Amino acid sequence: MKNMRTAIYPGSFDPVTLGHLDIIRRAAVMFDRLIVAVMHNQNKTPMFTMEERMDFLRRTTAGLSGVEVDSCGGLLADYAARKNACAIVKGLRAVSDFEYEFQMALANRKLNPALDTMFLMTSAENMYLSSSVVKDIAVHGGSIAGFVPDELMEDIVRRTKKGG
Ligand code: PNS
Repeated sequence: MKNMRTAIYPGSFDPVTLGHLDIIRRAAVMFDRLIVAVMHNQNKTPMFTMEERMDFLRRTTAGLSGVEVDSCGGLLADYAARKNACAIVKGLRAVSDFEYEFQMALANRKLNPALDTMFLMTSAENMYLSSSVVKDIAVHGGSIAGFVPDELMEDIVRRTKKGG
């Protein structure tokens, strides 16, 4: 479709949380196409494989119109250009997220001047939520109910036990 407005929501999604899904739902209605891109963060070693992370995202976004799940190994700015995206969507929680996100947004715009980053404030109930918190709770045998989509709970718990 000509003039189709595409945005990219990038992240590690290791695994997807209810906080990510909230951002996906809210961003999806603002663009014609929202590509949820599972990417490599060089500062993190993922617990879940790329395939698992994409499968979790596909299962939980299946009913959302205009939302696609993809993976990308290179630079986000190049990927966005290939997909003809006009925006990167990011969620912001506490002030502590800001400095890192601000730096990435400016670097991405320098790499691809046609690309802007749009920040959505987290919903208040997700302030404390992160994939790291989910993994930590699951590894120690706690309940991750209310942190991740119900349909993923069993798989995440099983995998975190097996993974160690
Ligand atoms: O969920 P995360 O781990 O905070 O997401 C960070 C991510 C994956 C979006 C970021 O590390 C990234 O964009 N990686 C791709 C490589 C890249 O473009 N790096 C330069 C960013 S300025």
